[in-house]
Amino acid sequence: MGEGGEVVVVVREFEPVKDRIGVEDVERNCDAGSNGKISIFTDLLGDPICRVRHFPAFLMLVAEMVTDKEERKIVGLIRGCINTVTCGKKLSRNGKNGSNDSFKPIPVYSKLAYVLGLRVSPSHRRMGIGLKLVSRMEDWFREKGAEYSYMATDKDNEASVKLFTDRCGYAKFRTPCILVQPVFAHRVSITKGICIFPISPSDAESLYRRRFSTTEFFPSDIDSILYNRLNLGTFVAVPSDGFSDSWPGVDDFLSKPPESWSVLSIWNSKEVFTMEVRGASRTIRGLAKTSRMVDRAFPWLGIPSVPELFRPFGFHFLYGLGGEGPDAVRLTKALCDFAHNVAKERGCGLVVTEVSSREPLRVGIPHWKRLSCDEDLWFMKRLGEDYSDGSVGDWTKSPCGVSIFVDPREI
Ligand SMILES: CC(C)(COP(=O)(O)OP(=O)(O)OC[C@H]1O[C@@H](n2cnc3c(N)ncnc32)[C@H](O)[C@@H]1OP(=O)(O)O)[C@@H](O)C(=O)NCCC(=O)NCCS
Repeated sequence: MGEGGEVVVVVREFEPVKDRIGVEDVERNCDAGSNGKISIFTDLLGDPICRVRHFPAFLMLVAEMVTDKEERKIVGLIRGCINTVTCGKKLSRNGKNGSNDSFKPIPVYSKLAYVLGLRVSPSHRRMGIGLKLVSRMEDWFREKGAEYSYMATDKDNEASVKLFTDRCGYAKFRTPCILVQPVFAHRVSITKGICIFPISPSDAESLYRRRFSTTEFFPSDIDSILYNRLNLGTFVAVPSDGFSDSWPGVDDFLSKPPESWSVLSIWNSKEVFTMEVRGASRTIRGLAKTSRMVDRAFPWLGIPSVPELFRPFGFHFLYGLGGEGPDAVRLTKALCDFAHNVAKERGCGLVVTEVSSREPLRVGIPHWKRLSCDEDLWFMKRLGEDYSDGSVGDWTKSPCGVSIFVDPREI
């Protein structure tokens, strides 16, 4: 940069060919660990918009420093996307044959924007660039008719928490937990007496819409997730006792459901980006390697080995977890074990899911506490004046429900 010359920061739309290298530099600088601390490096596999591109509307902005000599350098970036999701429910008359004595809950939808991947180069922080990127992104959200905006961050990320709460008007909204299970070198055995059925995307769509569309954050375009090539399938678990060997189809299943059942879907995040743990000591890496070697040599011992996280690895994300009945927790555990084995076959390092802190099925989800996050902070802000949330009122003030639907495209 020209010394003493004028420098301006321009925020503009990301241009894939021109900006890719500059954006990767910013990502790398932000990921770099300091003082020998362990850090996680994310590789977006050459596609900086990969984390938002599966949404119906998305935008990536970059902040570029421009000197009076026309030297340019990308120093910040932000991604955003917009989708229509459930923000609450209302009762609707279920007027069969003109009767009006039965009511059923139906979803109330709202247009929700999501901010993610905000980064400012360490050398250019505290200059107002982060704030400028967020406010320009919010302008686009409003232009597109989004009613709310939200973002997720780690509770220890003081810079991010302060920026969004003190300066951008966001308030703490939900605190779901991220549950992370390592993929071992051995297959996990699935509890006996449980049938697991893969179901088609169209059956999965019907099941989700009929049973979970009033869950907070349920995406109105669930079909585009289920038919996406990254979706590896939807699976239903039932106790094998008294249930036929084959999937009866969604209509029959829901007209006469077993006393307990459970469902989940698997999303292949490994195709979107990879991660790598850097900065771990030689001792930690050595211990991890030994545990894997022993697990691989004696898989029947079922040793909970540490996967190869010190070179690029991918993960599967489990979403749409739900179920009913007294045995739903055990069935959820079986589905997670099944998903572990799918992840092992496909060479993943981790299986990840995110659920509400009050989710009753949470106890059935195997995870390692040290790799998981008890409190992922979600902040929310109301963006404008005209709302479709109607009976729900101000969503930002609504109490936390039992479950939330975490969209795999946001991960
Ligand atoms: C969070 C981040 C984007 C902030 O970018 P930035 O350009 O430095 O932020 P700004 O200069 O616009 O800061 C605006 C306000 O945010 C708050 N803030 C920013 N950094 C802060 C810090 N390190 N500590 C406390 N408050 C901070 C302050 O209120 C600040 O206003 P002030 O400087 O007038 O006090 C940047 O620190 C970053 O890239 N961090 C790593 C990636 C990340 O955590 N991203 C967010 C998660 S999506």
